Parts: sequence; structure tokens; C-alpha cells
Amino acid sequence: MKVFSTRKEISLYYESNGIPSPGFVPTMGALHDGHLSLVKEAAANCRPVGVSIFVNPTQFNDPGDLKKYPRTLDEDLRMLDMVMGPDDFVFTPSVEEIYPERDTRVFDFGNLGDVMEGLHRPGHFNGVAQVVSILFDIVKPSKAFFGQKDFQQLAIIRELARRYFPGIQIISCPIIRESDGLAMSSRNRRLLPEHRSKAGIIYETLKKASEMAHDKSIAELKTFVTRQIEQTPGFRIEYFEIADEMSLSPIYSKEEILENRHYYGCIALFAGEIRLIDNMEFTL
Ligand code: PAJ
Repeated sequence: MKVFSTRKEISLYYESNGIPSPGFVPTMGALHDGHLSLVKEAAANCRPVGVSIFVNPTQFNDPGDLKKYPRTLDEDLRMLDMVMGPDDFVFTPSVEEIYPERDTRVFDFGNLGDVMEGLHRPGHFNGVAQVVSILFDIVKPSKAFFGQKDFQQLAIIRELARRYFPGIQIISCPIIRESDGLAMSSRNRRLLPEHRSKAGIIYETLKKASEMAHDKSIAELKTFVTRQIEQTPGFRIEYFEIADEMSLSPIYSKEEILENRHYYGCIALFAGEIRLIDNMEFTL
């Protein structure tokens, strides 16, 4: 695989290869099998595959979180080399390369950006939209692959593509989990051992709640999830909502259920100081 760190290197590569339209997997590095599943899906559908590794400062609303975000470039490149071919490429730009000047664009995704993560991480999705639109402009993919782990991000990216990049197909890929059910995340490596050993409770709770979903009210489901999580020492729930996949609007009663829509239980919580998110489909 090739490794590029500038826009220029990518455009030269494209010029010498008849301007391909790659499959694209944007990441912030600290790669795990969840990321690799997207790369494998891209490789099964597209040639070449481009993967970006860029810790995007504009999507961090907490400077401490940005500073502590794990950076493991050598290990990331080693992992990618095992699954990528000779024509595939990794893009590892600097902050200056992506943002030669301050990006002052403001995106308004309406309800999609206002609920759940948008409410608790102000500015986060604006930063995601900034970087993804810049990366799409540079990489010019035909298809871009995103994980359902970041359920709300996926909806925002679909809307971004619908508005500004109609030629790019957005492909969603299932959540990859550890053996105890914990959704893989670059943040998991920062969990303290006593929290990591208990973190399977998140998946277990979502699963139990989804099994109870048909017979319980929304309020009962929310109480159940909150209790289960908060009974675990060091775990504190930030929100648990049951949201419509299309509008992302949380519902508060079963009277709000619309036909032919899919609903997801979406959770954000702290395990010690580490913020984790997860989600699961609920059949109500
Ligand atoms: P990052 O958290 O590195 O995730 C990169 C991609 O991997 C996202 O599409 C995410 O949903 C997917 N992913 C993460 N964990 C996963 C898991 N356990 N199973 C399946 N897919 C998983 O998301 C970002 O980076 C950034 O916001 C980015 C889109 C790169 C913009 O900076």
C-alpha cells in the first residue's frame, strides 16, 4: 500500500492512474477490528481503497479529550498493510494540510444535529462535517464506508452527502464487538481495568432492554437501562434514548411510533472518565 501525507501526493497518484474513484474509509487512527471491517468491506467493493488517519481537532469539544486521544500511527500502518493491496493508499495528513486556514463553515443539520450527541457535544458534528467534506474533496471517492457504531454520525454524513456530494454512496457497516459485547472503540484502551472488566454490561443491558421492548413502555425501558448501568461502580449514564433511524428524534411514548420505521436504543455513558457510546435496534 502507499502512504501519502499531502493533497499533492494524492493528486499526482490519481493523475498517473487515470483518476480512480476509490472506496474510502475515514478514521482517526488507533485502529481496531471495527475499523478493519470497514476497510475489508471497502476492499470487497472498490479498487483502490483509501483510508485516512487524521485526528480532527475541530470535532473535539473538549481539548483534554483531543490531547489524550490515542495516536498509534506505526501500529495502524502495520495493521492496514495486512489488509490492503499495493494500489491502495493511506492518507495521513497534518493539521495544516487539512486546515491551511481556519474552517469557519457552519453546517445546520436541523434535528439530526440537535439531539443526543449533538446536545451533549456541541460543535462535534460541525467539526465532523468540516473534516469529512474536506476529505471527500481530496479523495473523491465513489463510495465511503462508515460504522453503525456512530449511529448519529452516519445520519449526519448521509445528509452531508445528499446535499453536497450526491455522487458519493454512503455505505453503513455493522458494529464489531469484543467477546463480552463491548463495542470496539479507540477509547476502550483508555478504560481502567476495573471498568473494562465490567463494560460488557452495556451490551448486555441494551440486549435485555431490546428483548423487553415489545412489552414495556418507553419510560420503563429507560428506567431499566439507567438502573442497570448506574448499579455498576464507576459507570454514569449521560443519556439513553430510543430514536427513529430517519429523523433521529427520540420518542417518549409508543403512541409516537410510525409504521415502517426502525428504532434504535442509543446510549452514552461514562466509565470512569471515558465516554462510551453504543446502540442497538429495538423492535417496539
Ligand atoms: P473513528 O472513531 O476513528 O471511526 C472511524 C470509522 O470507524 C467510523 O465510521 C466509525 O463508525 C467506525 N467504527 C468505529 N468503531 C467501530 C466498531 N466497533 N464497529 C464498526 N465500525 C466502527 O468516526 C470517526 O473516527 C471520525 O468522526 C471521522 C468520521 C473519521 C471524522 O473525523
